[in-house]
Amino acid sequence: MVGEMPFLLPNSLMKTRDAATILAFGKLSILEACSLMEGSVERAEAPTERVAVFRTTGLDPGLLRSFAGAHKLAPVVVVLDSPSGDQGPLVDLMSLHLEEKSNFSLSAYGIGDDDYEELVKTMLDGLRSRGLRKVRLLRPKGNELLSERVLTRGALDVVAFPYHGGIALGPTVWVPDSASMRESGTHRPVPRPEIALSPRLARTLLNLSGLKPGQTVLDPFCGSGTILVEALKRSLRCLGLDSRAGRVLEARENLRWAIGGVTDRGFDIRKGDARELPRILRGTKVDAIVTEPLLLPSLTARPKTSTAEALIRESAEVYNDALASMADSIQPHGRIVVVVPVIETMDGDEVTLTLDGRRLGLRSYQPGPVGFEYPVRLSFESTRWVKRAVYVFEPPD
Ligand SMILES: C[S@@+](CC[C@H](N)C(=O)[O-])C[C@H]1O[C@@H](n2cnc3c(N)ncnc32)[C@H](O)[C@@H]1O
Repeated sequence: MVGEMPFLLPNSLMKTRDAATILAFGKLSILEACSLMEGSVERAEAPTERVAVFRTTGLDPGLLRSFAGAHKLAPVVVVLDSPSGDQGPLVDLMSLHLEEKSNFSLSAYGIGDDDYEELVKTMLDGLRSRGLRKVRLLRPKGNELLSERVLTRGALDVVAFPYHGGIALGPTVWVPDSASMRESGTHRPVPRPEIALSPRLARTLLNLSGLKPGQTVLDPFCGSGTILVEALKRSLRCLGLDSRAGRVLEARENLRWAIGGVTDRGFDIRKGDARELPRILRGTKVDAIVTEPLLLPSLTARPKTSTAEALIRESAEVYNDALASMADSIQPHGRIVVVVPVIETMDGDEVTLTLDGRRLGLRSYQPGPVGFEYPVRLSFESTRWVKRAVYVFEPPD
């Protein structure tokens, strides 16, 4: 992937100690990174909701490719005291990779417009003083060049964000292949955007499961099969369950499409109730469970807090019974990844469905070095009044 960058920035930059990541899902993406890079993350900081800075013992490009919750990766090259501070090392690095008439951009996260203008002016002055008079500054709306545009515009993109009382800057050295992720959601035979999560989020949840190719994942509320489509693409064996026969057919159709075949190779989707897994699976245990039940009626407006509480109470019953049934159907080291709803109310409250895994002998998953509070809230992927949060459970050691 690094080789596909329009401006191939040296691999050595990947060995940087402090790597800034532009996050797709806020805290949940930090959890995903700590899970993927367990052992090599020494510190993780979140200077703004969209950015995390990871101090690592070295980034593995292979792992990076599977980090679904990252929009961009940039080593921190300078930290300025003020927006007009000296960008010397960064501009030196940029001038090594820019030619006359090349595109470049400055993407700001959590930085005000005046500071942004000052940063741009200082950067342009620096590039001009190094003889680059005709480089083209792309000025994206909202002061952010989206990762896909970085590729399509062939831009050397620099990210900027508040950091330790100053402003950190670094060049984007890697962006993910978002097009294939999007296609997975829109090109499949039954897209069902009204119930389905995004393929990107499905990949994040699968990463949190810790599964390796060849292992078996179960989604007992599989709907149209978004999670299982992504699982099948990474060579996992897939089991799906849904209480509605129509959904079972839809999921099968989507999964056949994912493997480009007419046979049901590598997956088994059945009609059934998630609360009865031990009976349905006849005691077989799976390697991990990844699921998004979200059992609420569609809301046309923010409900009152009391209505939201009643809705959450109703679905909590199914969630809790299903969680007990999942705990009985998982291998000794398997993880259970479950999405729960958070309802925004007209009274300004948020009502969250909470799950107690301890009563079932489950622990909350805590990859080092950050302590995560569950359920971990997702930023940036919500339906209108219902947001998502995620639990990751694992059995005790
Ligand atoms: C939010 S949808 C899942 C969406 C899915 N992630 C997708 O990509 O389409 C929840 C699904 O759970 C199913 N469901 C509801 N109660 C169930 C139960 N007790 N057992 C199994 N499935 C159930 C519904 O039919 C629905 O398809």
